Amino acid sequence: MGTPVNIIVGSHVWVEDSDVAWIDGEVEKLTGEVVIQATTGKTITAKLSKIYPKNVEAPAGGVDDMRKLSYLHEPGVLQNLKIRYELNEIYTYTGNILIAINPFQRLPHIYDAHMMQQYKGAPFGELNPHVFAVADVAYRAMINEGKSNSILVSGESGAGKTETTKMLMRYLAYLGGRAVTEGRTVEQQVLESNPVLEAFGNAKTVRNNNSSRFGKFVEIQFDKQGRISGAAIRTYLLERSRVCQISDPERNYHCFYLLCAAPQEEIEKYKLGHPKTFHYLNQSKCYELVGISDAHDYLATRRAMDIVGISENEQEAIFRVVAAILHIGNVEFTKGKEVDSSVPKDDKAKFHLKTAAELLMCDLKALEDALCKLVMVRPEEVIKRSLDPESAVTSRDGLAKTVYSRLFDWLVNKINNSIGQDANSKCLIGVLDIYGFESFKTNSFEQFCINFTNEKLQQHFNQHVFKMEQEEYTKEAIDWSYIEFVDNKLKLTWKS
Ligand SMILES: Nc1ncnc2c1ncn2[C@@H]1O[C@H](COP(=O)(O)OP(=O)(O)O)[C@@H](O)[C@H]1O
Ligand SMILES: [Mg+2]
Repeated sequence: MGTPVNIIVGSHVWVEDSDVAWIDGEVEKLTGEVVIQATTGKTITAKLSKIYPKNVEAPAGGVDDMRKLSYLHEPGVLQNLKIRYELNEIYTYTGNILIAINPFQRLPHIYDAHMMQQYKGAPFGELNPHVFAVADVAYRAMINEGKSNSILVSGESGAGKTETTKMLMRYLAYLGGRAVTEGRTVEQQVLESNPVLEAFGNAKTVRNNNSSRFGKFVEIQFDKQGRISGAAIRTYLLERSRVCQISDPERNYHCFYLLCAAPQEEIEKYKLGHPKTFHYLNQSKCYELVGISDAHDYLATRRAMDIVGISENEQEAIFRVVAAILHIGNVEFTKGKEVDSSVPKDDKAKFHLKTAAELLMCDLKALEDALCKLVMVRPEEVIKRSLDPESAVTSRDGLAKTVYSRLFDWLVNKINNSIGQDANSKCLIGVLDIYGFESFKTNSFEQFCINFTNEKLQQHFNQHVFKMEQEEYTKEAIDWSYIEFVDNKLKLTWKS
């Protein structure tokens, strides 16, 4: 990257550092290896190929578009983002790509109604870089050219993707909002679907107290006048393993803790107690989130469910399933009379099994069999084989995960039906909030699928950006070519 420059004794340069990524300094000696006197006081020796020129005349406040940098290399980019971040400027452009850095604090003044008004219709690049500007461009292009657009929000876990997605949706709802009909507007329903989905699809992880454990693509449909006329939410890859397995200091899905903090009447109805009494929750010692009241959020989730059109009866059924999963997780097994068979361990296990059956409104014996027996359906016969206690636990967890992911899919479907699709809509804006790339000590197949998806999206993004650049160069008649490498890296080379 960047333009080759002469590095001589006295040049200001960046050199890699294992602690702080990059350190700046001045070249002292140039004999084979380069000796640099760093501004930190250290003397560093490095290879010439590992050194990057530093622009000493860069503006003190950084630049709002990275294309204005004299050197577009990693240290230059990072330094620019750092300077801006220190000035509370969390957004920076690189052409029409927006880079957002998580402020880790609420910045209400940059998202208020006044700000929305300012960005509405303002030419891109005229105002400070902002997520609203990106949404505005998508909306204008849709209105003026009649073309649908998608906005891709990418980044590692905890980077701020979901928050950014919410801001994009809020701004689009502001642009395409309309008068209230029947008390609930489409855009209100679209926005309120967020807290509902978050209650069931988000959890506290090491890096993020409200981490989405699923991918989400929201299509907002518009009519000819540019008003929101419908929406569709597609979700993918919900992290199923979390339902049965969590590690300190993470939490399971929020909904379990919300329900345990519900009003007393409900606690009694669902035979619940403190989260620490449930195996699916007590594998981690973290039960509460700083600054968050689960009791409050329970009621807020209920209200949001009302808005998106989930009836009282349906809400009750949803929470019955959530409670049943907690009870299922507490069913422990011991060896049965026959070889390699299992039965509920004790009265406690029997109580939870019975409660789960009641909540799921299913036959108790059938539920027990589903956990303790393996049923193989063959064309000629049905074979029933008993399972040892260890296999019964696997089968129990399998059932819990499947029930939970079906509940989640049901919820998404319900929200979609209630918001409604506009079959006549010719244009839409899609917002994709991906589910961050992560690498753990041991990565399951589930993680592999998530990371693979991320990799694919990154490639799609690269190709899209390069295609746009290509069109730009063709327009300006710049002679160039690009080489595509199999290892998913694209490299630009200029012919002249
Ligand atoms: N623009 C923002 N303003 C305020 N807080 C933010 C912003 N972006 C992120 N955060 C904070 O960081 C946390 C993690 O962000 P989130 O969007 O959930 O990350 P991701 O979806 O990339 O994993 C949020 O819960 C919020 O506290
Ligand atoms: Mg997220």
